Amino acid sequence: MTMHPALAVCAAGMLLVSCGSGHDSGTPLYKDPSQPVEKRVDDLLSRMTLDEKIGQLNQRSSWGGESATGYFSKEIEAGNIGSLLNVDPVSADSLQRVAVEKSRLGIPVLLSRDVIHGYRTIFPIPLGQAATFDTALVAQGARIAAVEASADGIRWTFSPMIDISRDARWGRIAESFGEDVWLTRQMGRAMVRGYQGDAGNDSTSMAACAKHFVGYGASESGRDYNSTFIPERQLREVYLAPFEDVCREGAMTYMSSFNDNDGIPASGNRHVLTDILRGEWGFDGFVVSDWASVAEMINHGYCADRKDAARTGFNAGVDMEMESGTYIENMKALIDEGAVKMDDIDRSVASVLRIKFLLGLFDNPYITTPQDVLYAPEHLAAARQAAAESAILLKNADETLPLKEGMTILLTGPMADAPHDQMGTWVFDGQKDHTVTLLDAFKDQWGGRVKVIYEPGLAYSRDTETSGIDCAVAAARGADAIVAVVGEEAILSGEAHSMADLNLVGAQSELIGRLAKTGKPLVTVVMAGRPLTIGKEVEESDAVLYSFHPGTMGGPALADILMGEISPSGRTPVTFAKTVGQLPMYYSHKNTGRPAAGTEVLIDDIELEAGQTSLGCTSFWLDAGFGPLFPFGYGLTYGDFRYSNVKTDKNAYGKDDTIHASAVLTNSGKREATEVVQLYVRDLVGSVTRPVKELKEFRRVTLAPGESVTVDFDLPVSELAFYGQDMQRNVEAGEFTLGIGPDSDTELSCSFTVK
Ligand code: BGC
Repeated sequence: MTMHPALAVCAAGMLLVSCGSGHDSGTPLYKDPSQPVEKRVDDLLSRMTLDEKIGQLNQRSSWGGESATGYFSKEIEAGNIGSLLNVDPVSADSLQRVAVEKSRLGIPVLLSRDVIHGYRTIFPIPLGQAATFDTALVAQGARIAAVEASADGIRWTFSPMIDISRDARWGRIAESFGEDVWLTRQMGRAMVRGYQGDAGNDSTSMAACAKHFVGYGASESGRDYNSTFIPERQLREVYLAPFEDVCREGAMTYMSSFNDNDGIPASGNRHVLTDILRGEWGFDGFVVSDWASVAEMINHGYCADRKDAARTGFNAGVDMEMESGTYIENMKALIDEGAVKMDDIDRSVASVLRIKFLLGLFDNPYITTPQDVLYAPEHLAAARQAAAESAILLKNADETLPLKEGMTILLTGPMADAPHDQMGTWVFDGQKDHTVTLLDAFKDQWGGRVKVIYEPGLAYSRDTETSGIDCAVAAARGADAIVAVVGEEAILSGEAHSMADLNLVGAQSELIGRLAKTGKPLVTVVMAGRPLTIGKEVEESDAVLYSFHPGTMGGPALADILMGEISPSGRTPVTFAKTVGQLPMYYSHKNTGRPAAGTEVLIDDIELEAGQTSLGCTSFWLDAGFGPLFPFGYGLTYGDFRYSNVKTDKNAYGKDDTIHASAVLTNSGKREATEVVQLYVRDLVGSVTRPVKELKEFRRVTLAPGESVTVDFDLPVSELAFYGQDMQRNVEAGEFTLGIGPDSDTELSCSFTVK
């Protein structure tokens, strides 16, 4: 997919697409599709009253039903609303007709919704999509979401969520692409490409919204909406980096976040919203607040009242206010008092109109996508592939997996047949009747080839009633293998669903423990919205397959893996901690002055009345050691991949050069499999300390048994730049190490210098 020139809302400024010269003198210029977008914006702006302008900056949420349609019809006709969210699909087209046919200037309303991981056909949650390390598939999923959503008139989604998330207590980690900057950058770009498609030429294009701007994922103690304390260097290198990338990709809108960083609420942060986004990156789309985050600056203790909040939010750079209505109430007075400048209002309104023109809403405002795209077979097939690629094989002792045809399998656990929960968080439109569970897949797809005994054990993930566990244990006696599907209900992750304990909820741990004692091969499948602390269950199980809520087609995808139709290829997009006390935990940390390499003395090793210095004085936890349960980038396959001959083409590079690095990858196993080859780099000495490792490239490679290939990467030296002590982004000369391997534990065995 390539970006349409009209989508260049960043850096290069707006490219104007003109197909004709003049316009019919009877028709206002802005209604003439042959005119360049900027001329149309200017012409329309010149015809608008101040009230109509302020109306464009107001976004409201519908509560559905007839009363909402009646109320919003009047407001739209009066020009008081620029965008609506959560519109009931039945009234979407009629509200648009009111905007276009009854409001004075016929400005279409931008209909928006949280289409986060699919519209009707639900893809894995974004954390699961990140686990695929497959950007083409993620772009395809976003395209499908846009095609389906546009069939109900939705042309703006509040996605991608590109908050770097390093604390699994935070429920919204589910919506993110995990902990890594590079991976999030690639995934964010892929989603923007997919949603926006060929905007300007395509009525299935949907404006993307990069959120939450910025730093929301660093909420203190993983508690949602909490404050963040991110210094400028880390803000730029870690949290802002994916937002800069999607700006280059042409993301049409941004959403300011809820958190206050170092005392400044994001919706009132002019440095970020204006100086960086518009000033440094050249963004020309518009910024919407998060839900009521402008008014919430009063709760933060940053604004005195609603008028002060409107002034602060708008002057910081929030163009459109979501839901709280302080702009529409106060903007006229603020302009009269000189507290808000008319030029700024014009710029903001122009940025909203520009996106409406670019989406083609003025020329083609009504729904044209047919309803039969919803759950189209090719959409279901793509969702199935995404669910399969997102599943991570964490353990496979003695080749327990794949299971064999002819076996009798006990299928148990509260998530084995949970059609609603399997879809995960942020699903408004996916219908559980369309979900295919693992139980469905084993019955319908594998019914003739394996015998399945189904005994759920627990009714739902939080269930503590254990009588069902006895039935499951009894049923295990007649089975050749057990597949136990545990995890989290959808509602336990997502917004406002932070958790302080990440062990399996309810009696699920007891279920696994008792099944393990039967001595039957035990395959534990986890469906969850975050990486849980499952060390005990991993120990007790023979095999573990982790599936971040896999969506509509999770069942057949996971059955294909369990039965060996497909080799698992997902990789952890986030570090799995052993215990919640290790959080936040991420591979790309600093080394400290006392790194913990091999010097851990754990709590049970400490002698009585030990002297003060007997613990090695390195950076680790007495009761958890240093390492995680599973590192970032980790995942097994049914193949057996070996790396050799890892090298760079030179020992020294200039700052404008490209590093050509390669490794030989061999599948020495007996089955075809896909490896996610990962390239990591370390800058050994800097003017400020640098992470011990940084992912800089990855590629999925599929090899037949016995097959070998050379995997090549071209890494521009400029990708090694960082914000040095002078806060300038530069590559600093010096020595680097590089490694290519299967996960973030990869040894960095090659050295090179940059001159
Ligand atoms: C969330 C956003 C979401 C918005 C609209 C807010 O509560 O933080 O991510 O897009 O609601 O539903």
